Amino acid sequence: MARTRSIYRCGECGGEGPQWTGRCGGCGAWNTIVEECSRESASSSGLLPSAPSRAVPIADVESEGWEPRPVGIGELDRVLGGGLVAGSVTLLGGEPGIGKSTLLLQALSALAGNGARCLLACAEESAQQVRMRAARLGALRSNLWLVADTDLSAILAHAATVAPDVLVVDSIQTVFDPDLASAPGSVGQVRECAHRLVRAAKDAGRATILVGHVTKDGTLAGPRVLEHTVDTVLSFEGERHHALRLLRAVKHRFGPTSELGLFEMTDDGLTGVPDPGRLFLSDRQAHAPGSVVVPTLEGHRPLVVELQALVAKSALATPRRSAQGLDSGRLAMVSAVLEERVGVSLAGADVYALAVGGVRVVEPGADLALALALVSSVTGCALPPDLVACGEIGLCGELRQVSQTGRRLAEAARLGFGRAVVPASAPEPPAGFEVLRASTLVEALARAGLSLEAKPVGFPRAVSA
Ligand code: TYD
Ligand code: MG
Repeated sequence: MARTRSIYRCGECGGEGPQWTGRCGGCGAWNTIVEECSRESASSSGLLPSAPSRAVPIADVESEGWEPRPVGIGELDRVLGGGLVAGSVTLLGGEPGIGKSTLLLQALSALAGNGARCLLACAEESAQQVRMRAARLGALRSNLWLVADTDLSAILAHAATVAPDVLVVDSIQTVFDPDLASAPGSVGQVRECAHRLVRAAKDAGRATILVGHVTKDGTLAGPRVLEHTVDTVLSFEGERHHALRLLRAVKHRFGPTSELGLFEMTDDGLTGVPDPGRLFLSDRQAHAPGSVVVPTLEGHRPLVVELQALVAKSALATPRRSAQGLDSGRLAMVSAVLEERVGVSLAGADVYALAVGGVRVVEPGADLALALALVSSVTGCALPPDLVACGEIGLCGELRQVSQTGRRLAEAARLGFGRAVVPASAPEPPAGFEVLRASTLVEALARAGLSLEAKPVGFPRAVSA
């Protein structure tokens, strides 16, 4: 028989203590401790199968049936390292409305189409809503079962009856265990429900995917508490106003975490974007001042992205610095280096910088392209249309090499670019590709054909020029 007792749990880190405190001793957050009733039972603490364990030589451990099973959606399989492993538990996290339910419905449809038995436990929408969406996405399969329920015990009972190969629970914040006193969505509920689902997944050898909503500032702490409970954590990201969606593995016990999956949200659901270069560059005005292309890396995947900068005279006492899809700290740093080491005055100017296409470029490898875009906007000189730039800028105005320059340049070459401004120490480029080496930012500007003498630097600048 289960016993209940009160425990006090932090809503941020999930740490627990015997009494209420104003500040969590684990993570230091204030006012995050809430009282919960916890049910203690011998079997509820562990994550491993409840069958008696046995020690065996490692080579004798049964591995058959633990190979990944391809889902049938290329971009998803790429991130999963081949597919779903039986008995594994995956958490798909992302902001509300980003497309998690859509992605999983399409995934289950693809799996069911390949003969897997699938069960979708929907705790957020009614069965009719999900059916209508499935009909629209062409996901009505005889092997795809659906239950709309929020009671975890009921969901587990349905899973035992249907015996699916793959179970999806959408979402972990809306299912609840009625035996627990705490409210659905509370850290205690989310943790306990996830533990039970993980145990059931391991016992039945069934791949399980849990959906978890997270907001940008991480206020819904539930999924973060789960990260060590599950085998794989996938993060689904994107700008709400753009169609592009990025899927990456934050944690993966069965494969690498460096792969990136790219999707586009369309009226027919999510479609994979196997060649993102063309998507990012399709509307580019190559001869416009302020536009520079950077071959960046997302995990192992090279992405060729256009950066744009606009330096405009400001009417504000404190000029604006706006970075969209870029790190504002790096924009500030690059601006300061341009002012102090190159002599480009940005005082009295609003500075807008943007990574085109809804992608976030935060790596230091984009520093050089950002600096070139800023100077190009200030001087009104466009860069040659076949030129890309990659390199990190140091505070002394020196250029530093970034990782995997060869792969970056190869991708740029594939998309039709022929030249790159790179740090002096960069490795040899792919055959037929020209590199313009520079050891400082001043040299790089000259190599890119941006002459600071040709036009007045900074402001005031003739608008008609
Ligand atoms: P959804 O999968 O419900 O998001 P989540 O489960 O992450 O909360 O998707 C929500 C958005 O996706 C919704 O605003 C509408 C859009 N959408 C499309 O643009 N096309 C489609 O075919 C579908 C199903 C959704
Ligand atoms: Mg949803």
